[in-house]
Amino acid sequence: MSLRAELEARVQTWAQKHFPQIGSGPWVRACTDPRHGHFQTHLPMVAAKQVGENPRDIASRLAKECAPPPNWETPEVAGSGFVNYRVQPAAVAQAVESLRKDPSLGITATTKPETIVIDFSSPNIAKAMHVGHIRSTLLGDTLSRLLTRCGHKVIRINHLGDWGTQFGKLLLAYRNAGRPPLDPSRSIEQLEEFYKKGHEESEADPAKMELARAELAALQSGEPERTQDWKHFCQRSSEHFQEIYRRLGVTFDLEKGESSYQSQLSIVVDELLKKGIAEQSQGAVVVKNPKISEEPFLIRKSDGAFLYGTTDLAALQSRILELHADRIIYVTDGRQQLHFQWLFDTAIRWGKTVPLEHVWFGSILGPDRKPLKSRDGSPIKLIDLLNEAKDRAKKILLEKRPDLDEKTLETKSELLGIASLKYADQMPGRNLDYVFTWEKLLAFDGNTAPYILNAYVRSRSILRKAGVNAPPSHKIHLEEPAEEELSRHLLRFSDVIELAASDRKPHHLCGYLFETAGLFHRFFENCPVLQAKTQSLQESRLTLTGLTGDVLRDGLNLLGISTLEEM
Ligand code: ARG
Repeated sequence: MSLRAELEARVQTWAQKHFPQIGSGPWVRACTDPRHGHFQTHLPMVAAKQVGENPRDIASRLAKECAPPPNWETPEVAGSGFVNYRVQPAAVAQAVESLRKDPSLGITATTKPETIVIDFSSPNIAKAMHVGHIRSTLLGDTLSRLLTRCGHKVIRINHLGDWGTQFGKLLLAYRNAGRPPLDPSRSIEQLEEFYKKGHEESEADPAKMELARAELAALQSGEPERTQDWKHFCQRSSEHFQEIYRRLGVTFDLEKGESSYQSQLSIVVDELLKKGIAEQSQGAVVVKNPKISEEPFLIRKSDGAFLYGTTDLAALQSRILELHADRIIYVTDGRQQLHFQWLFDTAIRWGKTVPLEHVWFGSILGPDRKPLKSRDGSPIKLIDLLNEAKDRAKKILLEKRPDLDEKTLETKSELLGIASLKYADQMPGRNLDYVFTWEKLLAFDGNTAPYILNAYVRSRSILRKAGVNAPPSHKIHLEEPAEEELSRHLLRFSDVIELAASDRKPHHLCGYLFETAGLFHRFFENCPVLQAKTQSLQESRLTLTGLTGDVLRDGLNLLGISTLEEM
């Protein structure tokens, strides 16, 4: 348990006794400026409003009646109704010793575990994964790691876009070309070319458009040859996706494409019609709710075709019934907000009571502050981005370590390149658009993966120099302010993980790791480790060094970033 959580528990018990209506908090937060104390509670302000008393009076009672944990200083009433708390170094030292002995670094499993489905990445078949998919893939992966770590059962789902009207045009051009086998080394490019050709031709010629429609209808009715072609497209696309997931270290529990819900779609629409949730409108079936938008939610077109939203309704039902989801989280671009508003609203009216969340993210922008594009104006392919990250990391590494052999250089550049990309993408708040710059992302000084990895490498190299091969666990002595500050910071790790998980915002963790690296460098400058005055002080500092490394590594791993022992 973190120091904050220990105090929180005491404040909550007091609050429950004296203000039973008050709710469950959290009431305690860490102070940003240590001159005011280490922790603060605003509980008296909230309680005072509820019962119409003076907040300072409640604060005095709280300070007097609710004892902080042992070895904390006497609390102080501050401002218009806050209470400030300070931890004595002895309590910090003791807490660090127990943190060091805890393999889960203070993170406790939730008392209310849920089965959480996370729908993320979900690219479309026959198209290259582009830069727009990176945020969904990384954010979904990190949320899965965080929520698993907090004790939930997470089911990671890749909801592949493998069904839709695009296949008519694609099949038309592919079959006109004589159904050639796709070349595994450039199958996505080939598929994109076929689609482009089919699209251009059918847009220009109504007769061809008719043919494309007929192709689609043949596929949808299960005609064997078209089905075989479609499977071939899916297979080749999947190989392309797998290569990217392998390099990113991202896995799924279930890859279930939109096509797998086909047989359910008409049943869902009929049920919604029967329950009066959906209605007929000019031959189509729609769900209306003027509070969301004037345009209704289309679930069956007048030609009988189903839509993206219909599939999402069927998928939602299957996740509840077959996967027993207690909660479903969808990770996509912010531009799909309206779609999910419709989906969730319809689901609630349909009687689906599990909490549904749309965790959305902003765009990646180029230097001109417009969505990032390649030189020719097309979207940047994810695979090109990964390759460039690696190449750039290699150049930087070669300068630092000209001695590396080719194979080690390869491995390290891949790790550093991917780490930099992952960190840069998760560090800005997810709802923000951010400007992408290679220089910033790979810099060794700044809020970057190389900077944090460097702190980790340094912590491990200190241990090696001291001749210890695993992080030690000795008695902690806190003499210098820099080591006390680092210690108090390390004790916050579990608070930050819980916050990042519950807010669905990995950037809290990025900010925390950046601070950890900074505080560790300060500690290293101010507190000699190998030259410490006494042996027990050296042991204490080696323990802190090892623990800092463990926190950095664990935190980075939760962001999907691997560490290396040497640069
Ligand atoms: N395939 C969609 C796209 O690339 C994302 C799907 C998100 N998941 C969902 N259940 N709608 O934009």
